[in-house]
Amino acid sequence: MALIFSLILFISAAVSSAAADGGYGFSVEMIHRDFPKSPLFNASETHYHRIADALRRSISRERVSLTDTGKAPIYSSGGAYVVKISLGTPPFSIVAVADTGSNIIWTRCKPCPNCHKQIEPMFDPSKSSTYKLVPCSSPNCSISGLESSCSSESMCEYSTSYYDGTHSKGDIAVDTVTMGSTSGHPVAFPRTVIGCGHDNVAAFGSKISGIVGLGHGPASLVQQMGPATGGKFSYCLVPVGKSNNSSYLNFGSNAIVSGFGAVSTPFYTSAIDYFKGFYVLKVEAMSVGSNKFKFTNTLLLETNGNIIIDSGTTLTYIPMETYANFSNAISKLIDLNPTTSPIQFLNYCYETTTNDYKVPPVTVHFEGGDVNLERENLFIRVAKNVVCLAFVGRKDMFIYGNIAQTNFLVGYDIKKSSVSFKPSNCATL
Ligand SMILES: *[C@@H]1O[C@H](CO)[C@@H](O)[C@H](O)[C@H]1NC(C)=O
Ligand SMILES: *[C@@H]1O[C@H](CO)[C@@H](O)[C@H](O)[C@H]1NC(C)=O
Ligand SMILES: *[C@@H]1O[C@H](CO)[C@@H](O)[C@H](O)[C@H]1NC(C)=O
Ligand SMILES: *[C@@H]1O[C@H](CO)[C@@H](O)[C@H](O)[C@H]1NC(C)=O
Ligand SMILES: *[C@@H]1O[C@H](CO)[C@@H](O)[C@H](O)[C@H]1NC(C)=O
Repeated sequence: MALIFSLILFISAAVSSAAADGGYGFSVEMIHRDFPKSPLFNASETHYHRIADALRRSISRERVSLTDTGKAPIYSSGGAYVVKISLGTPPFSIVAVADTGSNIIWTRCKPCPNCHKQIEPMFDPSKSSTYKLVPCSSPNCSISGLESSCSSESMCEYSTSYYDGTHSKGDIAVDTVTMGSTSGHPVAFPRTVIGCGHDNVAAFGSKISGIVGLGHGPASLVQQMGPATGGKFSYCLVPVGKSNNSSYLNFGSNAIVSGFGAVSTPFYTSAIDYFKGFYVLKVEAMSVGSNKFKFTNTLLLETNGNIIIDSGTTLTYIPMETYANFSNAISKLIDLNPTTSPIQFLNYCYETTTNDYKVPPVTVHFEGGDVNLERENLFIRVAKNVVCLAFVGRKDMFIYGNIAQTNFLVGYDIKKSSVSFKPSNCATL
């Protein structure tokens, strides 16, 4: 035990001033669920089967906007990327979805009477010496931003649900969260507020235990790390199918995105409770070659921004009018033969077996900076000989998905309310 502790670097509330300046940093692996290293990887499934599944999950996730958005949080977490974290003392390792669209850390907990028997291992709070329930009177009870209630012993409880059917109900508690870092020295965050779920249904299956929220709500991992990492994190997503190398999630000084090619844009916070923890960016227009198409705003988010950036959504959703002109311009300029779509909701598909096909220059004009998209940000290969445009037109809810973000170092700075993009070859970072 002593050995374990001597290897763990504890970050306490009394961090040094160097750390407070973001002088301290670490990185952890962030694995796409369809990569061989992921616990969800199913080797007997075909690559295209996995892609179709990812698209289906993306569609079910985005349907949040078709429902009454004034209701409880139901924004789905299909589980595109997972990280390993440990909970409690001694540290108990779990695999959890890392999600910029979630704002709490929760895991399945023992006892879980309705869980399937094969869900093992599961965090057992009675075995953790640092686990403490939170009384309803504590400020830690209300920070979760979730529907909270009180048990008969006046202890804090939570309940959260997602569109894809995932939901979790249980105790709000504080315990140590430990993350293994690529430097080999695990990093521990004592007294982190977590949800310990005793009643769960998870669309992401039995091999993943919960969700690590990377949103900017008060109970998200990033906000709770606060002073230690200066509110900074970044990731670089490796495109699926090109290499098996891992993506990384970086914190603190490791998460600074600057230098040649880096652009920065402000993020906004929605006035609607339901969307408060999301990162809302502002896209002013999109260009294809020399044609520039304005982006319409959405009233739904009640803020200056118009598009949510999300690590867990696969496709990118843009305003219907912009999409009509954008896809039309692409289809005029691309030098490939159109083909019928093998996937019902993707409308612009082309025949090609090579990965060197040429695409017209496409730019996303964010407020404060332009981001040029590459082939792998625009198209997704859905069959051996077919690629489809990975953009979809929508009426009211716009989302910047993870295909558009691959091969960019994407940095979030909560203190400065900014998101930065830097073109990078993520597989070699
Ligand atoms: C893996 O995929 C195959 C083919 O789709 C399926 O029959 C099997 O049930 C899957 N295995 C798991 C563990 O999900
Ligand atoms: C939770 O409560 C503890 C003790 O009262 C306090 O030190 C800590 O800052 C609180 N955590 C959060 C995230 O508010
Ligand atoms: C990635 O790993 C899978 C399974 O181990 C293998 O089939 C595939 O060829 C690898 N892909 C690349 C690009 O190395
Ligand atoms: C789309 O193109 C039409 C016709 O060229 C134009 O009238 C309209 O303003 C364009 N819409 C946007 C959003 O750029
Ligand atoms: C995977 O990572 C290794 C080690 O960093 C690197 O040498 C290799 O080029 C990467 N593979 C790809 C396909 O980029």
